[in-house]
Amino acid sequence: MTISDVAGTPASDVAATTPRRAERRERGPRTRTPRLRRYAMTAPTFFTVSYAINPWMDTSTPVDTDLAVRQWETLLSTYRALGHTVELVEPVAGLPDMVYAANGGLIVDGKAVVARFAYPQRAGEAAAHAEWMSGNGFEPRHTRHTNEGQGDLLVVGSRILAGYGFRTDHRAHAEVEQITGLPVTSLELVDPRFYHLDTALAVLDDTTIAYYPPAFSDEARARLQKLFPDAIEVSTADAYVLGLNVVSDGKHVLMPANATTFAAQIANAGFEPIGIDLSELFKGGGSVKCCTLEVYS
Ligand code: ARG
Repeated sequence: MTISDVAGTPASDVAATTPRRAERRERGPRTRTPRLRRYAMTAPTFFTVSYAINPWMDTSTPVDTDLAVRQWETLLSTYRALGHTVELVEPVAGLPDMVYAANGGLIVDGKAVVARFAYPQRAGEAAAHAEWMSGNGFEPRHTRHTNEGQGDLLVVGSRILAGYGFRTDHRAHAEVEQITGLPVTSLELVDPRFYHLDTALAVLDDTTIAYYPPAFSDEARARLQKLFPDAIEVSTADAYVLGLNVVSDGKHVLMPANATTFAAQIANAGFEPIGIDLSELFKGGGSVKCCTLEVYS
């Protein structure tokens, strides 16, 4: 391989290029196919940072709720412009984190697991999500142990990757497996900044993921390497802007606008990154994925 084979990639990347990746480059990036999705979202009408339950939250930082709403509307309209269905779960006054709809539960193959939140400040959100599930024909099933929905339970193909260590209780994984009938792979998170699995790992399609290795225990990293040998590994800089908190339809990847190196990695793999500025919601420790519950029905 000569340098011209990888023109346009930084020198550090050249050394890391495996023969397999180089081959792929010669053929050009893979063509990716989008699939129409169904999402549920909650407007940040009542969003603010009035308590701190993760290291990103600082109650002394001012929050512009109107700006949060406008930024969130951009995310909503981007999904709709791509043809996806977005349903709205009504926000509830006094539940400022409800905008992070992903945490409300997990709906897959007609089975619905409703969240059981780790912190009392968010506990009330579960009832709103259970009601939405019932109203949409899903019977909300509760777990005995804490589970924070799609914050920690990510569907990849016909498997669920499940985080634990900060929010979702390891013991809830078996309950989720039982309710959904899907195999669950448990992954231990070890860095409090990456307290939910969706802050440390992104699902790009049914077989492709990206992740930030330092957020995981050695055992979890070994599991990921075995399951996804071609996974994209993201840089610390991108992980620290919550760059992994993305939503992909199999082609378009809606992602934090400032995770620029990750955007280039995504594009190189044949996906189409679409940057969204959610600076206000970042102050609560969340971004694109946190605001989006995918309904896999
Ligand atoms: N402030 C919220 C919390 O700490 C943010 C949740 C982000 N959601 C997510 N899916 N990671 O619970």
